Amino acid sequence: MKIFTIIYSSIILTVFHNLFEKKPLDESIADGKELYNDFCSQCHLTDGKGVKGVYPPLANSDFLLDVEKTINSIKYGLKGPIIVNGEKYNSIMISQGLDDEEISDVVNYILNSWGNTSANIVTEEMVSAVR
Ligand code: HEC
Repeated sequence: MKIFTIIYSSIILTVFHNLFEKKPLDESIADGKELYNDFCSQCHLTDGKGVKGVYPPLANSDFLLDVEKTINSIKYGLKGPIIVNGEKYNSIMISQGLDDEEISDVVNYILNSWGNTSANIVTEEMVSAVR
């Protein structure tokens, strides 16, 4: 009987874990990496360095210091003049059509890759709140 109690409790625990626990940062980064390689790397490149004057870098990008602006640009797209690390860009990035959870994953990935580090995890709720 005891073994059933143990199995039963672990199933309940797993269900609760999946329902109520936020996705841990390492899992979000791993999912974000896959999304990045599918949706972003053709322009910003797998090393995040972009193409000077054409596709701005994400590696060490000072644009990413404003997390809300970063989320906004991925959620709704970005066009017009911007300056990234002192370099001017004036182009268009269309929205890649990711949902809010996917955007949080890809942002966690770019904020924690190629030397970028971030103290805070970006959640789906934070992405939903950006208009
Ligand atoms: C078709 C090419 C293309 C794709 C695909 C693309 N981007 Fe961009 N991205 C651009 C361009 C061009 C700009 C600059 C837009 C401007 O000049 O206003 C930009 C700007 C940005 C910026 C702000 C500037 C910076 O470098 O920090 C971020 C952040 C960003 N992109 C992230 C992403 C992410 C994440 C994805 C994938 C979900 C993605 N991009 C997909 C072309 C692209």
